[in-house]
Amino acid sequence: MRRTSAIYPGTFDPLTNGHLDIIERSSRLFERVVVAILVNPEKDPLFTAEERRDLIRASIEKMAKNVEVDVFEGLLAEYARRRSAKVIIRGIRAVSDYEYELQMALANRRLQPEIETLFMLPAERYSYLSSRLVREIAQHAGSIRGLVPRPVEKALLKRFKRA
Ligand code: PNS
Repeated sequence: MRRTSAIYPGTFDPLTNGHLDIIERSSRLFERVVVAILVNPEKDPLFTAEERRDLIRASIEKMAKNVEVDVFEGLLAEYARRRSAKVIIRGIRAVSDYEYELQMALANRRLQPEIETLFMLPAERYSYLSSRLVREIAQHAGSIRGLVPRPVEKALLKRFKRA
């Protein structure tokens, strides 16, 4: 798989240490990993796509140089085709993630049959972690230390006016 490009898509509002763990693991498997942030006009995100992009870039600074961060709109399968990626990576935490992921993977396969979805497991200690949980904790002044990379922690503290 070393000579293959992979896309790691998501909302990343914001990036968590679980996401970062998947980025690190996949960067060891693939020649190139594109972290692709969805701009979803129907959602009202905490951070703009550009803010999310900059936070991910700042968080992966010390990581392997084969990771790129991009923003996309529209269909993921079409974006993956445009980027000549053969693999879509999705992190799975618990069985409850599976149903939605299965639906999405099969829809993407129908749209682009030659692109494979690869499910990866984050480290056990992050298996309960989600962006929604992090947003909620931060919003109610709980500690998010250790749940998100430092740049994200700082941005959340600032957003909720605690720094
Ligand atoms: O981090 P998320 O919110 O679980 O990521 C979901 C994402 C962005 C991967 C998914 O919503 C997506 O790919 N959206 C793009 C639209 C699309 O391609 N839909 C058809 C496949 S279900």
